[in-house]
Amino acid sequence: MSTIKIGLVGCGGRGRGAAQNALKNTATKDVKLTAVADAFQDSVDGTVKLFSDQYPHQTDLPKERQFVGLDCCEQLLKTDVDVVLLCEPPGFRPRDFVAAVDSGKHIFAEKPVAVDSPGVRRFLVANTKAKNNKQIVLVGHHLRFEKKHYESIKMIHEGAIGDLLRIRIFFDTGYLWTRPRLEGQTEMEHQIRNWYYFNWLSGDHIVEQHVHDIDVMNWFMKDQHPIEANGMGGRQVRIAPQFGEIFDHHSVEYVFGEREVRGYSDCRQINGCWGSFSEHAYGTKGYINMDGHGTVVLKQEGKDPIIWKREADGHQTEMDILFDAIQNGKEWNNGDIGADATMTAILGRMATYSGKVVKWEEAFHSELDLFPKTLAWDADPGPKPNAQGIYPCAKAGITKAW
Ligand SMILES: NC(=O)c1ccc[n+]([C@@H]2O[C@H](COP(=O)([O-])OP(=O)(O)OC[C@H]3O[C@@H](n4cnc5c(N)ncnc54)[C@H](O)[C@@H]3O)[C@@H](O)[C@H]2O)c1
Repeated sequence: MSTIKIGLVGCGGRGRGAAQNALKNTATKDVKLTAVADAFQDSVDGTVKLFSDQYPHQTDLPKERQFVGLDCCEQLLKTDVDVVLLCEPPGFRPRDFVAAVDSGKHIFAEKPVAVDSPGVRRFLVANTKAKNNKQIVLVGHHLRFEKKHYESIKMIHEGAIGDLLRIRIFFDTGYLWTRPRLEGQTEMEHQIRNWYYFNWLSGDHIVEQHVHDIDVMNWFMKDQHPIEANGMGGRQVRIAPQFGEIFDHHSVEYVFGEREVRGYSDCRQINGCWGSFSEHAYGTKGYINMDGHGTVVLKQEGKDPIIWKREADGHQTEMDILFDAIQNGKEWNNGDIGADATMTAILGRMATYSGKVVKWEEAFHSELDLFPKTLAWDADPGPKPNAQGIYPCAKAGITKAW
């Protein structure tokens, strides 16, 4: 095909990174960023400047293809872009994904694909439509595209460590960014700026961040999802207005149907603590330790360990695959797998918020829809701070989490 035109929705850190990976893809250099969209003018302006300065020959962003506002994705989809990169906060992803599928464009969708069960179901329905239309859908689980991960997990599927007995996964890190409330902001603007800390936008960090390792856990299990989960978590240190309503730690036991294999998941965002971004599986004949962005060690009984060092960054290889598929008319769709990982993470959040055992079936069919009834800058987004500016968070044993 002629020049492949890219539209970017969500011009933040990952959106800019994804667009750069897209321009640098190895399948074709004939790609251009021709449309950008963001809720906020400053994000659009910064992105237009960055790409115009750094990629002048691959950037064509006149004012009429710069879209700002809460309906910016809808506006961008009316342009003639071939592929859209959905890198906005995850709460908007089901809405924007459905619209992108309806527009007939190819789609890169960052993880997670939703923050609640109705969103996952909407994503799945639209993804079936995308498959029928032969639209390419690539969900940004970048570890799936790293050689150390896909080569070693293939060996596990072939029986290298025997039958799996248990899995451990971690995303333990310090605080991330915050965007404290500014004078004159409406509640809706504050929450969308500081999106990480509100469930309707991020799904909590077990969904937004730990979903990477949760996806690897399901991948160990040959893309099965768990049948139930129980867990605990809370907000121990990160209690202040800028930290919204999410927990700072979660610990979940997932149960898989096959031989009741257990997956133990931990995620924490607290400064000054041990950190790990890793996945581990133990079988009847060996084990594997995978460092998310480091080394993978596969140890089989009676053999020397096999070691993989990290090679190409999956954020780049996923774009190489996406553009190869577009350029050469290949089919590609990992939407259902992405949706399963998101739903597994939501199941974990339901378990930690409620303190109860939650079954996959009841979680998946939950009608708890976190999206605001009305989306407008002066509308009520839902979560409300108290007089000190602190937002309430879930309480185990009390909160109805699904
Ligand atoms: N795969 C990875 O390794 C990875 C890494 C980081 C983030 N992510 C994912 O990328 C997405 C974005 O994260 P980020 O780190 O870039 O956050 P960010 O805050 O840096 O960027 C988000 C951008 O979206 C904009 N935005 C808000 N509401 C919008 C709307 N309705 N429509 C369009 N734009 C809107 C914000 O103004 C901001 O510019 C999230 O889904 C996150 O989970 C993935």
